[in-house]
Amino acid sequence: MATPRLAFVLGTRPEIIKLSPLVRACLERAIPHVVVHTGQHYSESLDAVFFEQLELPTPTYDLGVGSDDHGEQTATMIRGIESVLEAERPAHVVVQGDTNSALAGAIAASKRDPSLAHVEAGLRSFDREMPEEINRVLVDHAADHCFAPTEESARLLAAEGIDGDRVRVTGNTIVDAVSQHRDLATEKSDVLAEHDLEPGAFYLLTAHRAENVDDPERFAGILEGVGAFATRTDREVVYPIHPRARETLAAFELSVPEPIRLVDPLDFLDFLTLERHARLAVTDSGGVQEEACILGTPCVTVRDSTERPETVDIGANRLVGTEPSAIVAGAEAMVDRPGTWSNPFGDGDAADRILDALL
Ligand code: UD1
Ligand code: UDP
Repeated sequence: MATPRLAFVLGTRPEIIKLSPLVRACLERAIPHVVVHTGQHYSESLDAVFFEQLELPTPTYDLGVGSDDHGEQTATMIRGIESVLEAERPAHVVVQGDTNSALAGAIAASKRDPSLAHVEAGLRSFDREMPEEINRVLVDHAADHCFAPTEESARLLAAEGIDGDRVRVTGNTIVDAVSQHRDLATEKSDVLAEHDLEPGAFYLLTAHRAENVDDPERFAGILEGVGAFATRTDREVVYPIHPRARETLAAFELSVPEPIRLVDPLDFLDFLTLERHARLAVTDSGGVQEEACILGTPCVTVRDSTERPETVDIGANRLVGTEPSAIVAGAEAMVDRPGTWSNPFGDGDAADRILDALL
């Protein structure tokens, strides 16, 4: 391969999913590139399963950094990414979102020649307690190219003084990923039968964010609120549980209400199928707020802030915090809402727009 023009840096489940349309477009368009996996996520169910199902080649580099304290983890990634940039000399480094892997890619690129491109730029929760908020602000300010999913994100970048020449509204690549896999999910996924679920007759829960699941009171509040609503409405809840949450659930010795069924993290096709057929999604995930909105499933977000306000503005999502009574009230308000809003995250051509802008 000629000198790679692009180096994708990724490390976690949502980055693999949201960068997959870009990597596949590079393969289709014969654009030279390398994929650098930091190894932030390494469990099969958060990592390998997505490479396989999204038809991505094995990463060119796997730094194998693993879990650690934030500073140590990010520093090890920067060191590894710097060596790759030295060896490969790409023209552009592409990072996505707000994880420690994205921050490490941004810092490594900023210290060297390549330009830095940030996919999903301009999201803001304005909650500086969240590590993700600090990461996304730093990455946006370091980036040469800020690919904002919506006009609102572009407006937020402008408000921080980021030059308009660096910003382009492209839509979010999650729309590309969902539209490329929605029909395949219908064709291939048996998840409803496997878990004995009727379309429209169950709720989907995901909670993994540090500020929720590392805090026993907040985590217990989510379980209690969702459990109470499910009991009252006589429906089951499926909770594909992230390993971080599984660990703290055990460490805090929290009890899981009867209607909530814990399952291992799911692959993308199974997860999309559950999201599409759930009567309601309850989540603290950024990606799940977007996907529920795209798929027409009402959503309740168990956080105090969201960097996806577009979903709330159009009536697809409601922000309720983690108090049980607020979760029940929010779920009651959302559960029968028809999913007739229009998707605010673009038309599914974000990846091509981003590549055209870079090349
Ligand atoms: C990270 C991101 C978060 C993103 C999430 C996606 C940061 C600061 N956080 O959070 O923004 O929403 O990924 O899922 O970058 N673990 C495993 N197997 C793995 C990875 C992690 O068991 O493959 C466990 C370990 O106990 C680890 C814990 O999960 O300590 C947390 O992992 P980490 O990557 O630090 O953060 P996430 O919670 O996954
Ligand atoms: N997801 C998945 N299986 C699961 C849970 C989530 O495939 O069991 C996908 C989901 O479709 C979305 C992404 O993971 O695209 C969201 O990742 P996560 O919630 O871990 O991170 P966040 O989006 O909050 O950063």
